[in-house]
Amino acid sequence: MSRPPDAVRGATIVGTGMYVPERILTNADLEKMVDTTDQWILDRTGIRERHIAACDQASSDLAVIASRRALEAAKRAPDDLDLIIVATTTPDRILPSCACTLQQKLGARRAAAYDLFAACTGFVYGLGQARALIGAHMAETVLVVGVEKLSSIVDYTDRNTCVLFGDGAGAAVLREAPPGEGILSVTIQSDGNLGEVLEVPAGGSARALDERGLLAHDHKIKMRGKELFKVAVRAMDESLRQALSDAGLTCDDLKLVIPHQANRRIIDAMRERLGIPAEKVVLNIDRYGNTSSASIPISLDEAVREGRLEPGDYVAFVAFGGGVTWGASVMRWTQPPPVAAALAEATVTRKIASLAAATGRAT
Ligand code: UT7
Repeated sequence: MSRPPDAVRGATIVGTGMYVPERILTNADLEKMVDTTDQWILDRTGIRERHIAACDQASSDLAVIASRRALEAAKRAPDDLDLIIVATTTPDRILPSCACTLQQKLGARRAAAYDLFAACTGFVYGLGQARALIGAHMAETVLVVGVEKLSSIVDYTDRNTCVLFGDGAGAAVLREAPPGEGILSVTIQSDGNLGEVLEVPAGGSARALDERGLLAHDHKIKMRGKELFKVAVRAMDESLRQALSDAGLTCDDLKLVIPHQANRRIIDAMRERLGIPAEKVVLNIDRYGNTSSASIPISLDEAVREGRLEPGDYVAFVAFGGGVTWGASVMRWTQPPPVAAALAEATVTRKIASLAAATGRAT
């Protein structure tokens, strides 16, 4: 029976991909650039190294590689996409959007494309939009990308921030899900009163970049880290609880939690407040640093490819970032891991071959 066109339907992730640039900036490299130490960075943040894009690599160049990998995992072609949402704070330029440039590079001719600006929470916001639009029958196949070339807005003379951030991209392809499968809940929030705690003061319509701004590095990230830290722990704790309650689940039901990778101490504090064992939490901040909107889809892709998620598992995403913004989402995982899918496919091929041999027919 066909569903009435206004029926709300579910959405799920059917393929993931990630990409980080080749160049690695280690803590030892940073020791030569600012007054810092490997020990301080590791103890205070958990970061050992981060990847930095080449000068001629724009955010869309990182995004296109992650997106192709996600499409390949989803067994979809660029022309299957009818919507591309790119969560980024570092688009290639102000106009056109990073999403439109990505659409052109992918050759996704049928897709509508737009950027979403919610800083480190961007991927969770994007999941919410994809789910809503698939649910409302406005889209069938949606690509959600989190991508950042944060090195383009990091002040490499400011030790408070330059040790934290890295570049990278993560992508997910979403399609309709059966009831009770896929994304079960998404909760998002923001508080513009705290906007100045993490900002790029000049270069927008409020304040043009002039010589004074250029000398003060006001076109680069300024952050009051300590203030953010406290808000981040509380906000992530509360939104994960909300997303779990909306999904009718508890922390005990979760196989994995994939938090935004801003600081290992933030993640540990949130985890302890919620009573979640460390082995359930995906951590890769040591290798990538804080990649803002890319950190959750990068971590998800790694978890999928390492076989840490199986169909039926519950996984939660939780993020906090500039704006300030925060949010969480809970999913019942549906995508078979690549290895299992390949094995299943091989078994089917073998069965068809032996059936064909038994009936004397060529395949
Ligand atoms: O992505 C989402 C948004 N971002 C966040 O949520 C980030 C949240 N904040 C944080 O992760 C932490 O606050 C930081 C990692 C940024 C800083 O850690 P902290 O423990 O809060 O350090 P602090 O800012 O209180 O600084 C402690 C000391 C200061 O020296 P004094 O004033 O005590 O003498 C800093 O100047 O550490 C100094 N410091 C450093 N020392 C060596 C700051 N940065 C460095 C550095 N190396 N890189």
